[in-house]
Amino acid sequence: MMFFEEKRREVMVHIEKYMLEKMHEFLKPIDTIWQPSDFLPDSSRDTFFNEIKELQESAGGLSYDLIAVLIGDTITEEALPTYESWLTMVDGVSKDEEGGWMKWTRYWTAEENRHGDLLNKYLYLSGRVNMRMMEISTQYLIADGFDIGTGTDPYRNFIYTSFQELATNVSHRRVASQAKKHGDTLLSKMCGVIASDEARHAKAYKYFIEKIFEVDASEAMIAFEDMMRKKIVMPAHFLREVGLKIGQTFGHFTDAAQRLGIYTAVDYVDILKELLEDWHIESITGLNEQAEKSRDYLVKLPDRLMRVADRMKNPMLEYKFSWING
Ligand SMILES: [Fe+2]
Ligand SMILES: [Fe+2]
Repeated sequence: MMFFEEKRREVMVHIEKYMLEKMHEFLKPIDTIWQPSDFLPDSSRDTFFNEIKELQESAGGLSYDLIAVLIGDTITEEALPTYESWLTMVDGVSKDEEGGWMKWTRYWTAEENRHGDLLNKYLYLSGRVNMRMMEISTQYLIADGFDIGTGTDPYRNFIYTSFQELATNVSHRRVASQAKKHGDTLLSKMCGVIASDEARHAKAYKYFIEKIFEVDASEAMIAFEDMMRKKIVMPAHFLREVGLKIGQTFGHFTDAAQRLGIYTAVDYVDILKELLEDWHIESITGLNEQAEKSRDYLVKLPDRLMRVADRMKNPMLEYKFSWING
């Protein structure tokens, strides 16, 4: 029998050729894709100060919780160095710069980098944020890294990223619609385009896992069960503010998101359901005994989690973030 890691390396080499073929379906050409400057006031024009005034007027209507969530989302996006360095550490990601894995990782990072850039500039101009406090949190989060329970296993990693890209799609989309309700159409557009990037990225990672299921279904199933048992933790779970310990701000950020309905326990279950459907988990056959059990666990999981979600109370405790002025 082949060793666990060796088989995974072989599978990763097998998938690498599809990456190069398919990359253009999941990523957009750099010359024509949107850039942060498409949305932000142009500082080289005389209209600049008026545009900032307008931006600040509409940002003034956003609720405290919404600003808090937006800051948390921005810090999460800005911790991109953590995600890029982690992807290159995954087993089977060959270090060949022309190979599919390195190309994917660099091109994906390049697209993602626009998200934090755009949101950060918006928040800076909005007048609502204590930028120094936010920047300290960002620096902390990058320095602290994360621990998402995947190790260097490619199967667990790409199950995680499939889930996480869907989760960020949901949360940016919801911020977009709430911003619109508050009358901030600029922020709404911004979060809308970011959400659609996340949707494309989710397709890519789901595709990698689909390919893995084709050639190593039992191990992929076991990996999926393991990730769901550990629970998919958000990449910013180490979030903190100045003077606080590692991870101490994270719960307040997710409470605000849950209160506003931007990312909730029900969304978690819906994402799980989507993955179960897209990977046709229920109908996969030819599994070994352990993987059969994993599949049974997975197909029953949404109902179980939904019962828990129904019992959950909305967190009401109000918290004052150091990031927000006034
Ligand atoms: Fe992003
Ligand atoms: Fe993303």
